[in-house]
Amino acid sequence: MNIIDLYEKYDNLYYIGGVVRDILIKMPSQDVDITVEGNAIEFCENLEDCEIVQTNPDFGTVRVKINKQIYDIASTRKEIYPQKGHLPKIVEIGCSIKDDVIRRDFTINALAKNTKTGEIIDYVNGREDIQNKKLRVLHDESFIDDPTRIIRGLKFATRFGFSLDEHTKILQDNYLKNINYDMCYKRMKDELISTFNLNSNKAFSTFINDKIYKLITEKEIKLPDYDIQNLVGKYYKKINNVWLIYIALVDTEKLELNKTEIKIVEDYKNLLEMDLTNDYDIVKAFENCEIESILLYEITKNDGKAIKYLDKLNEIKPEINGNDLKQIGVPPSEKYAKIFDYILQEKLKNPELTKMEELELAQKYEKNTKNM
Ligand code: CTP
Repeated sequence: MNIIDLYEKYDNLYYIGGVVRDILIKMPSQDVDITVEGNAIEFCENLEDCEIVQTNPDFGTVRVKINKQIYDIASTRKEIYPQKGHLPKIVEIGCSIKDDVIRRDFTINALAKNTKTGEIIDYVNGREDIQNKKLRVLHDESFIDDPTRIIRGLKFATRFGFSLDEHTKILQDNYLKNINYDMCYKRMKDELISTFNLNSNKAFSTFINDKIYKLITEKEIKLPDYDIQNLVGKYYKKINNVWLIYIALVDTEKLELNKTEIKIVEDYKNLLEMDLTNDYDIVKAFENCEIESILLYEITKNDGKAIKYLDKLNEIKPEINGNDLKQIGVPPSEKYAKIFDYILQEKLKNPELTKMEELELAQKYEKNTKNM
């Protein structure tokens, strides 16, 4: 048996959520969610040629191996939000497909497609909203239950060029005027990552102008006058955390950053305090920073120094190494670092210096500082 045989044999299996939306929009999907109308664990236990790899009875999910391939299959489930802004509580596993889809964020994500018949299950006019490029929540409490949906809305608007329907925009504005900051910021961070990794000026201006940024800070933030999308585009391949370039301009205090992210933000803040008067200062300031911090400096200061570093100064390095110094009779010591620093300063003044000239300068430096 392979998964297609399974899809064609049973009439209670559905593609669900984002994948159905993506099929209708004709966009590739990031992942394919499959749901059994009923209890997925019991369903899979009764299948032939299906190896259960892992089950999570609390969520009603099961990981199976069918014909050497791994699949995650969910049960239909009903959820409530007893603690607003936090993970929902599952109140029923094995509910109807209708109850499963109407707990979701936007109508475009509340679609299911029967794997056997191909029938699209659409209780909330999700297809019409896809056609009209509209993002519409399913009920008025949606953002109160789960404010990460506001960021999700921005993500889908950016990805598909959709916009919020009028009533949904009012609900969003109302929530943003009265935010409950006791929320799960891990989920918020995940959504910010996927939204701002899309590298979009439009998303950022909506984030700021519509005051969505208030979800992560109580400060007042202005939109920087800078084409960030273009800047990020220029260095895109070298950047691991595109999202953080946008979000560090706002505030990261409420987000749980990892070590690398913390360093990016701290270095950026330190850079802003520095007085970079010459090329040597610039190189020394930026050389141990991640590119995200350097670009954040550029966006904030807009003085061209970060670009000069990335496009030019960064390439200028002494050619001589420790072995060369040994060969000219300088015994290995902490002084090597000082000599390389001196050569760097000279090379920044005159990038045409040859290796021989560098060695001569090193020798002179060594002689002049012998007893220091
Ligand atoms: N969902 C929701 N509320 C959330 C997160 C998810 O209702 N805060 C529902 C939506 O129906 C969504 C589905 O769970 O389609 C799967 O979630 P996820 O994989 O995060 O969303 P996708 O829509 O698949 O988004 P992406 O394409 O970015 O993966």
